[in-house]
Amino acid sequence: MTKPLLEIKSLTKHFTSKQGFFSKEKVVRAVDGVNLTVYPGETVSIVGESGCGKSTTGRCILRLIEPTDGEILFEGNDIRKLNEEDLRRTRRDMQLVFQDPFASLNPRKTIGQILEDPLIIHEIGTPQERRRQVEEMIEIVGLSKQHLDRFPHEFSGGQRQRIGIARALILRPKLIIADEPVSALDVSIQAQILNLMQDLQKEFHLTYLFISHDLSVVRHISDRVAVMYLGKVVEVADKRSLYEKPTHPYTQALLSAVPVPNPHVTTQRIILEGDLPSPANPPSGCTFHPRCRHCMEICRTTAPPVRELAPDHFVSCHLEDADTIGSHT
Ligand SMILES: Nc1ncnc2c1ncn2[C@@H]1O[C@H](COP(=O)(O)OP(=O)(O)OP(=O)(O)O)[C@@H](O)[C@H]1O
Ligand SMILES: [Mg+2]
Repeated sequence: MTKPLLEIKSLTKHFTSKQGFFSKEKVVRAVDGVNLTVYPGETVSIVGESGCGKSTTGRCILRLIEPTDGEILFEGNDIRKLNEEDLRRTRRDMQLVFQDPFASLNPRKTIGQILEDPLIIHEIGTPQERRRQVEEMIEIVGLSKQHLDRFPHEFSGGQRQRIGIARALILRPKLIIADEPVSALDVSIQAQILNLMQDLQKEFHLTYLFISHDLSVVRHISDRVAVMYLGKVVEVADKRSLYEKPTHPYTQALLSAVPVPNPHVTTQRIILEGDLPSPANPPSGCTFHPRCRHCMEICRTTAPPVRELAPDHFVSCHLEDADTIGSHT
């Protein structure tokens, strides 16, 4: 069996903040016990509403923010236990692509400098070798050598995201965490960037952890999908079973809002009532219960365990646990 590239176990990130000197400390449970496994070469997506903890999960994996608890195993090594030098080396293998490429590209540097920086930081090659790598990479992402002497403001959104991808790829990483990489782009440009990412995945044997709130985009790119709600993964499955047989009422509601390409299929939109509750004050029991149309007594008091419904299809819901409702609506 293939070994996972990345294994996240009970990942937790609680932010603490204090409003005033005498006020009680507020704990925001941004990520609350996330488990996820990613195998080499696949694309796993994390989806969920704004504020459910997707970006925090991604940033914890890269240790851009320190997790509160849990294990993050990259090629079997817990990156929380690595010393400075080993962490630096591991970071070469894991790169981030941001939502807003403009904000993440230094406006005072040329594209050539931006792409060379990671190579300099990791002490790779002579200046000539680095220049060659940079020239090669800019062409791989569909731009040209002439672009290297220009500044980020001289590019369109789609071109900037190509530069963001080139910067992530220049160190030849194994894992790319892409946090809403196409959300800021026009739909036509989104497709180009997604296709580029898929081509690059094949060419460089990349593994993607793809973060998005857009289920149409996720459907296009993923092999497996993890649905997050209020800091927890509530359902994980391969793309086909998730889209054909969504089981958690939250997944069903999210999917019912996605337009279906087949005009003969009519799906009933499930309207989620209320907003995402605050992760500073999560509901008791199953945190989805106040918005769930199947809420039972047990849901108010007890957090549901994770069940494997079918091979590789996991869900955390009392309905499945109690077998109360067999059919999937
Ligand atoms: N530095 C921080 N300090 C305090 N709370 C934070 C911090 N960063 C994030 N949070 C909170 O943690 C929760 C999860 O945030 P996160 O950015 O991970 O969500 P997200 O799923 O990426 O949302 P979006 O789709 O809007 O990007 C939110 O309630 C957010 O307000
Ligand atoms: Mg985010």
